[in-house]
Amino acid sequence: MSNYHIKHLEEYYQVYRKSVREPENFWEEVAEEHFMWRKKWDKVLSWDFTKPEVKWFEGAKLNITENCIDRHLATRGDKTAIIFEPNDPKEASEHITYKQLHERVNQFANVLKDEGIKKGDRVCIYLPMIPELAIAVLACARVGAIHSVVFAGFSSTALSTRINDSECKMVITSDGSYRGAKTIDLKAIVDDALEDCPCVKSVLVAKRIHSDIGMKEGRDKWLQPLLDKASSDCKAEIMDAEDPLFILYTSGSTGKPKGMVHTIAGYMVYTAYTFKNVFQYRENDVYWCTADIGWITGHSYIVYGPLANGATTVMFEGVPSYPDFGRFWEVVEKHRVNQFYTAPTAIRALAKQGVDFIESHDLSSLKVLGSVGEPINEEAWHWYNDNVGKKRCPIVDTWWQTETGGIMVSPLPFVTPTKPTYATLPFPGIQPALMDEVGEELKGNQVEGRLCIKFPWPSMARTIWGNHERYRETYFSAFENKYFTGDGALRDEVGYYRITGRVDDVIIVSGHNLGTAPIEDAINEHPAVAESAIVGFPHDIKGNALYGFVILKDTGESRVQDNLRKEINQIITEHIGPIAKLDKIQFTSGLPKTRSGKIMRRILRKIACKDISNLGDTSTLLNPEVVQEIIDNAI
Ligand code: WT7
Repeated sequence: MSNYHIKHLEEYYQVYRKSVREPENFWEEVAEEHFMWRKKWDKVLSWDFTKPEVKWFEGAKLNITENCIDRHLATRGDKTAIIFEPNDPKEASEHITYKQLHERVNQFANVLKDEGIKKGDRVCIYLPMIPELAIAVLACARVGAIHSVVFAGFSSTALSTRINDSECKMVITSDGSYRGAKTIDLKAIVDDALEDCPCVKSVLVAKRIHSDIGMKEGRDKWLQPLLDKASSDCKAEIMDAEDPLFILYTSGSTGKPKGMVHTIAGYMVYTAYTFKNVFQYRENDVYWCTADIGWITGHSYIVYGPLANGATTVMFEGVPSYPDFGRFWEVVEKHRVNQFYTAPTAIRALAKQGVDFIESHDLSSLKVLGSVGEPINEEAWHWYNDNVGKKRCPIVDTWWQTETGGIMVSPLPFVTPTKPTYATLPFPGIQPALMDEVGEELKGNQVEGRLCIKFPWPSMARTIWGNHERYRETYFSAFENKYFTGDGALRDEVGYYRITGRVDDVIIVSGHNLGTAPIEDAINEHPAVAESAIVGFPHDIKGNALYGFVILKDTGESRVQDNLRKEINQIITEHIGPIAKLDKIQFTSGLPKTRSGKIMRRILRKIACKDISNLGDTSTLLNPEVVQEIIDNAI
């Protein structure tokens, strides 16, 4: 029996049991069989969740790009590694073979070296979904630099915060980007951000929209001429298993974004192994994940996981609605996509458009459908299953996080019977636990609690860049000796998991993880605002939308409230990005507070959700009278 590729349910249970009983033997076998190591490890695992410290494959030497590229050259050199599908369907798509990818990554890696980038340096990548993005990521990995990809929808303030936090030496960007019928001036955003980033020494600029942009003398360089001059031969830097591979920022419920640090070997083994099994990828399949590489989904399941398996992975620059809502299906038909992986928010937006857009396309190539980013509601699940999968493609509802690096709970298609809204069973090696409020583990089935993981897995984030104490505090302090996910979940009568949603102050809007605190901080910068509180409320398409309660300063001047609403959203757009804009803004004279001064968000949440029948005990509040005022003026 090979542990690597699980083909039926009995085998899943067997492999799962082994992964729990003998985790080290289990992962050692997976790692030995399928990767290219420059030196094998001395120790498979050492861990201590109290510090917390986790090390996988310690002592091993490797380069992840040799595993994602070089290793395939002999057998798959002419196979397509990446299919680039541009924003405009009239522009030709591009097929990049493994051989070509090898050349382009090597050239880019040589450019990085010429520009003074060395092992351990941080490089910020702020690019649209064009081939240069994947190539830049791999080029960093080739020279041992730590990439920090920032989603190109983030604002200049969000970008500069991230650049400064990890002290990036270089930024890789483009003149601009396409988004449907619009163009965005990415370089102008970078210029703005770099006003306060003294750590950045150079900026490499790819040409995408051919706009007329300013280049700062001594700092900015066009990328293409440098690539043209560079050799396509670049020896991979030999790295330690536990050297950092990348930093990726995620928002927390408080404070600035957390730079999650992922290390090389464990991340590689886990993303490759999960990719193979969760999508049941076969040699000539074409796989498409619609995420952006700016999120963990893109890192793990557009770039590293697929390429480590020698797969063909689609990179899509566009949006689901351009030129019309048939675009996804047109791309599936055009490239004969076999596995299709997207987010519930996209499914709901497409479902709203009806089935005509689907019916004019041939989707018979599809074998597996995936969902990620937030709980998928029953209606969306059935629409996806009936109309896209025609009831013959299993849906894999994959639960995981930026912090987990790879998929943690998911059905395996054709192996695990699916159940709408359930992420079903833990992946081999993953030991979930549901905890009650007093910190006891809930044993047995048919229980609901807080979702923790009680044993390390290879792709878990190792720390928060520059703040290990925050890492411990956020993930390892709520429950003793366990990683706490921040999610609630239930386990049904057969042991299937259903994720019920966040139990902290993180709100998932259109699949984007948004912390309330940074948004409140942004709003509070408005000169007319005294205080604010953000909560989520259910939204048809976005899953959740944001509701802001805002107290204005008594400045004596009268302001038009609608203008203020616009200005508040403008400030949020500048500080974070348009994804964090509020759908509803209610001005109020006060916020319900406990005697210790903490905002009782539970009450605000209920009001925003129009669920005021049972607000619970409000008598302990400092200002109970404000609750009625808020209810009366609720939007
Ligand atoms: C949070 C993590 C993992 C890639 C994208 C999001 C929610 C994610 C599911 C799912 C229910 C899900 C959780 C999680 N989430 N997938 N299949 N079912 N909830 O990564 O931005 O780090 O967000 O997304 O609440 O904690 P992220």
